[in-house]
Amino acid sequence: MLELVDIHKHFGPVRANDGVTMRVEAGTIHGLLGENGAGKSTLMKVLAGFLSADSGSVMLGGAPLEVSNPKESVAAGIGLLHQDPLLCLPFSVLENFTLGRPGGVRLEPAADRGELEELSGRFDFQFSPDVTARSLTVGERQQLEILRLLSLGVRVLILDEPTTAISASQRRLLFATLRKLADEGLTVIFVSHKLEEIEEICDHATVLRAGKVTGEVELPVPASDLVRLMFGKNIVLEERTDVALGEPVVELRDVTAAERLVTLQDISFTARAGEVIGLAGLAGSGQQTLLRVCAGLRHPDGGTIRLHGKDVTSAGYNRHLEVGVHWLPADRLGEGLVEGLSITEHYALAGDTRQGFVVDWDGARTEADEKISRFSVKGTTESTPESLSGGNQQRLLLAMMPDHIELLLMEHPTRGLDIESAEWVWHQLLERRNDGTAIVFSSADLDELRRYADRIFVFFAGKVLRELVAADTDTEELGYLIGGKDRE
Ligand SMILES: Nc1ncnc2c1ncn2[C@@H]1O[C@H](COP(=O)(O)OP(=O)(O)OP(=O)(O)O)[C@@H](O)[C@H]1O
Ligand SMILES: [Mg+2]
Repeated sequence: MLELVDIHKHFGPVRANDGVTMRVEAGTIHGLLGENGAGKSTLMKVLAGFLSADSGSVMLGGAPLEVSNPKESVAAGIGLLHQDPLLCLPFSVLENFTLGRPGGVRLEPAADRGELEELSGRFDFQFSPDVTARSLTVGERQQLEILRLLSLGVRVLILDEPTTAISASQRRLLFATLRKLADEGLTVIFVSHKLEEIEEICDHATVLRAGKVTGEVELPVPASDLVRLMFGKNIVLEERTDVALGEPVVELRDVTAAERLVTLQDISFTARAGEVIGLAGLAGSGQQTLLRVCAGLRHPDGGTIRLHGKDVTSAGYNRHLEVGVHWLPADRLGEGLVEGLSITEHYALAGDTRQGFVVDWDGARTEADEKISRFSVKGTTESTPESLSGGNQQRLLLAMMPDHIELLLMEHPTRGLDIESAEWVWHQLLERRNDGTAIVFSSADLDELRRYADRIFVFFAGKVLRELVAADTDTEELGYLIGGKDRE
């Protein structure tokens, strides 16, 4: 059905795709697996017309495919679903559904409505056509985007890491949908660095490492084979060690904070030096609000917050920074890094290389250079964050953390990272914990919560439903509690 032959795509010195050849059969789900920065997204952007290759060719259904933009690619039958679907948020569901129709707007809303309803019904999706796209969850946006691409006649559907921001039930529905599409003869390319997902849903997989194909497999194969193809070695998980806890770092008493969709209610806890607290729960259950309240990004409506015994309830973000609170957001490009600024410029902005209005550019560049090599960021001092792969953006955020942190607050610290990078990140974080940093982090990955937290708070509808000792719980119990229920 689809053949990519000897695709090369370089970004300056970076060989993102270095002679990639891949064949995909119709009616199958084909996995594209590889570590962070392996070149997966680049290859798929080439296929979907978002990037043009330096050399190489693509054959679709036996004929050469020449596309120079995404529109032509969709017209040829290839559609790419981005990790964060790019809908027009102020527009309605129905309007978004009809975007990109050839020949402009069709003046037959009733027909469009009927088609949306028919397609939704086929895959058990539930949409109200007239609400704005803004009100949809990431999972629902994906579903809408899939329907839009299908209605445009796409025969090859590419999904780039589709499961990072969706709930477990949405994931089940997505997998069922992909299986149904493949059974109907469509070709699905599923990009991921998560072995379990590739094993669960794919028929075949191509493995990339550093821009080259390291393997073509027919599933199932042992997971250890896939790990070796991905990383060129086996990955050994570090043993958990415990440290003695120190003084209280942060203390919350009866904190409440109302947000648009959820009200954080009566949160009281103390985190001590060297302690790691994990926040579990469905997205929007209050974890995010709690982290922001602790970071001074949002004032609580009630209750008190103390840092090292001092009341900081109504202090701002800068005050928190001064006393050693550091916040790592999940939205790396939206809140953590600045698009368009080079890594050197990031250090000039954040570091101590600035005196008044004078910027010490050499100092900033030296610091950037040193951190890039220490944190193995695949980039140069002149790279901008949007040119880095997701995993490397996260490394850069970590590389920009100050040396001394009392309280580290993190949203999804390893979201989008492959196993090796995630292990590496936690190694860095646990070293900070050993030095007495208190860590509070949210995660959707139950294994990550169990492995690294000492205590886990399970959030449900803005409240801490249960506080667990991480060593005494299991993934199943956590799964039930997150859904608001006790284990049956
Ligand atoms: N627009 C760009 N400019 C410069 N370099 C880029 C650009 N896009 C990607 N790269 C580089 O190409 C390499 C491959 O990146 P790509 O995004 O394809 O990786 P990936 O396999 O999708 O990784 P991840 O799992 O982290 O998403 C990386 O080293 C990245 O920094
Ligand atoms: Mg990618």
